[in-house]
Amino acid sequence: MMSPLTYTAGSLHMDGVNLAHITQAFGTPCYVYSATHIRNRVAELKAAFADLSCTIHYSVKANSNLHLLKLMHEQGVGFDIVSGGELSRVLAAGGNPQSVIFSGVGKRVEEIDFALKAGIKSFNVESASELNRLASRAGNLGKVAPVSLRVNPNVNAGTHPYISTGLKENKFGVDINSALDLYLQAQADPNLDIFGIDCHIGSQITQPEPLLEALTHLLQLADELGRQGIPIRHIDLGGGMGIRYRDETPLDFATYGSMVSQIVAKRDIEVLLEPGRSLTANAGVLLARVEYLKPAQSPDAPNFAVVDTAMNDLIRPALYQAWHDVLPVRETTAQAPKIWDIVGPVCESGDFLAKGRSLGLSEGDLLAIASAGAYGFVQSSNYNTRCRPPEVLVEGNTFRLIRRRETIDDQLRFEQEL
Ligand code: LLP
Repeated sequence: MMSPLTYTAGSLHMDGVNLAHITQAFGTPCYVYSATHIRNRVAELKAAFADLSCTIHYSVKANSNLHLLKLMHEQGVGFDIVSGGELSRVLAAGGNPQSVIFSGVGKRVEEIDFALKAGIKSFNVESASELNRLASRAGNLGKVAPVSLRVNPNVNAGTHPYISTGLKENKFGVDINSALDLYLQAQADPNLDIFGIDCHIGSQITQPEPLLEALTHLLQLADELGRQGIPIRHIDLGGGMGIRYRDETPLDFATYGSMVSQIVAKRDIEVLLEPGRSLTANAGVLLARVEYLKPAQSPDAPNFAVVDTAMNDLIRPALYQAWHDVLPVRETTAQAPKIWDIVGPVCESGDFLAKGRSLGLSEGDLLAIASAGAYGFVQSSNYNTRCRPPEVLVEGNTFRLIRRRETIDDQLRFEQEL
């Protein structure tokens, strides 16, 4: 998939917009997303699974700005949520509750009630206790809850341990070997309509094999359930499709789609997908400005470029040692390239955006931190009483603010009067 970023006349553009112009309008740090890139990714994914009855449920957690949710809805994409808050966002963006599936190990009573009243498509239930709670809440409200069980197929996704979810040692889902009992229990409950099997084995998966292995386990379970008189109408493969941050070979939608199509073949079953990162990550950049250069004081010390964004805005490098490309917004030969650690102003040694990058930097330069459209803004915080950045959406040659920069008043107003 092509990146939305190109240099035109020495200036970094997202689609038709010079990123420097966005910083003139909204300052730095600033998140910027390409609407075109997201639409293209959705279209690619749809095409890849066109041979199947397939529905896409965008994983809201990856980037939950209302304008992106609206864009997804306009593309016919549904939603995968993990909280009542995310359901509120989907509804506020004009999303259809019947396109919503609700994942997560810790659904609260209020959240379950909210989703039951809204009329969502499926609860992805992750434990026996949750199944009981859901049945009793549905009973209270006089509803029948639509249910998929999230099974843990014990497949190694081969990804970072913090974002691997399909192994026995992970907290997610129920052991696939004990799932049958829960299906039988749910089948007997008049307040539950159990019709799906769900899994999500991890995130940033770049090889199709673990995903296909999980699919095979799910289909075996579906067959067994069929024999037990529980017809399975949908199989949810979760998200996790990996992208290119650095030099990874991304999971190719077309290849994955055709492999899944072959395995699912002529079965009368709907396939659900819950992509997050693969739709939005490479649509986004985080723009920052170089505040200070601190060249190394000794030969064995790094050169530090201190920028005006930090781990509170983009925590992925600090949390997962994640790589994000760093691109100068203006190509220049004013300074010879040197190896820099790009760090923020937060008082933590873990506050870095990138390490060991070859760049020709001057103070005041603008930088674009790439692949920041997923798990960027959504994981931001006010640590060090920093105000979270604005978000901007690029549409062809135009751009518009979709979330304003936080102010210090925004932050202080939550605290009780002295
Ligand atoms: N479905 C479920 C049940 C999930 O838990 C997740 C992500 C997804 C779908 C979407 O996965 P994706 O397609 O985006 O890989 N903060 C981490 C990623 C955490 C992912 C959590 N679950 C990061 O920045 O890499």
